[in-house]
Amino acid sequence: MPSFRSATGQPGRGHPPEHWGSSLGFVLAAAGSAVGLGNLWGFAYRASQGGGGAFVLLYLLIVLVVCLPVLVAEMVLGRSTGHAPLLAPITAGGRRWAPLGWLYMAAAVGILAYYAVLMGWTGRSLLHALTAGLPADMAAAEAYFAAISSGGDAVVAHLLSLALTGVVVAAGIRGGIERLSRWGMPLLFLLLLGLLVWALTLPGAAEGYRTFLLRWDPAKLTDPTTIRNAFTQAFFSIGTGIGAILAYAAYLDRRSPIPREAACVVGMDTAVGLMAGCVTFPVVASFGLGDVVSGSTVGTLFIALPTGLASLGASGRVVAVLFFCLAYIAAITSSVSLLEVPTSSLIDRLGLSRRFTVWLLVVLIALLGLPSALDVAVLEKMDAVFGGVVLISGGLAMALLLGWGAPSRFLADLHQGGSPPALVLPLLWALRWVSPPAITAGLVVSVVDLVRSWSG
Ligand code: PHE
Repeated sequence: MPSFRSATGQPGRGHPPEHWGSSLGFVLAAAGSAVGLGNLWGFAYRASQGGGGAFVLLYLLIVLVVCLPVLVAEMVLGRSTGHAPLLAPITAGGRRWAPLGWLYMAAAVGILAYYAVLMGWTGRSLLHALTAGLPADMAAAEAYFAAISSGGDAVVAHLLSLALTGVVVAAGIRGGIERLSRWGMPLLFLLLLGLLVWALTLPGAAEGYRTFLLRWDPAKLTDPTTIRNAFTQAFFSIGTGIGAILAYAAYLDRRSPIPREAACVVGMDTAVGLMAGCVTFPVVASFGLGDVVSGSTVGTLFIALPTGLASLGASGRVVAVLFFCLAYIAAITSSVSLLEVPTSSLIDRLGLSRRFTVWLLVVLIALLGLPSALDVAVLEKMDAVFGGVVLISGGLAMALLLGWGAPSRFLADLHQGGSPPALVLPLLWALRWVSPPAITAGLVVSVVDLVRSWSG
């Protein structure tokens, strides 16, 4: 048995000293990790890239049949080992699984490096809507987006977002992450519900839903870009495959019902994705912005939404402020989970203090994020690689480790947590027979489509 250090700095002890205050605290934090900019910006722009109803159907199918069992496996891996993402795979499967821990570290750091930039754009848009108002027309919106998404503005907003994330993670699991999630998540749902009701009253609501979410074209089900979008969106949105939920689950009580908690997380995440789509598409349709969104890039909604809302005058400005507020809360509850992956891993491996580890990583990630802050094209590449291919590969490895490498750990942990065999056995079956082939197929289609889109 290798002599790893736990979070206490004691070699060989597998239990981090911190714990969630309650099961609800864990569920809210895990849902906070899942619900993020991916739901608000990603879902809308991927759904609008031509997939429509086929994209939504594939997305829901992947979430339920592929991601849910992997999420349960990830929680089991964290809780049963009590280790952070770097060491948990070795504890469960032996030395040959060591590269998986490094994959999680690299993915979390890589994603956070550009995620903090997106968060910066969101914060900057919030500030702008609050203090200066909304851009008068499309040209002004494009100029405004160009200004916030590159150069000094983007760098400052990126650094501030990372620093804020650092403050929360440095405050610890209960005092930082759980506290943030406990007020942030209910507030987020409240804001989203209010916006949903408002969007329903827009003249283009029905047209928005019809054009983007419900337009049905069966040929799209086999379209490689739609498949890549659905896979990427499902894995990125649930946030499974890079150890964020694993890191959280290491602080989890032995007796909590993991499958139920995982279902809650997936349910909340999917609901927020769909609800956010039901807010953005009416705006896009009502103000004739469909063309802008269909030729979508990651920044489109930062241009389309403010432009649409500007034509509503003062009430549009209020809606914009609320939307960006909501997006910022969603972003920070996700960014803290990304930072927790390398933080808990270094504490676990080297016995460093939490504060020191957090600030060391913040500096490193701030530097790694600079190219994305300076150039949107770099950000999009980082997203495709870390937020797509690497993340999905992490999910595949997770399914193989728990489904084939250590299935008895999966069964024993869920049994100990009180989950009935009638639930656990089908989950294990899906983890072994459905997730790996489905993820492999999705990964191959995604890589081929990505390479084709880069070379074309
Ligand atoms: N799920 C988050 C979002 O939708 C991002 C994320 C990815 C968080 C991976 C943790 C792990 O924005």
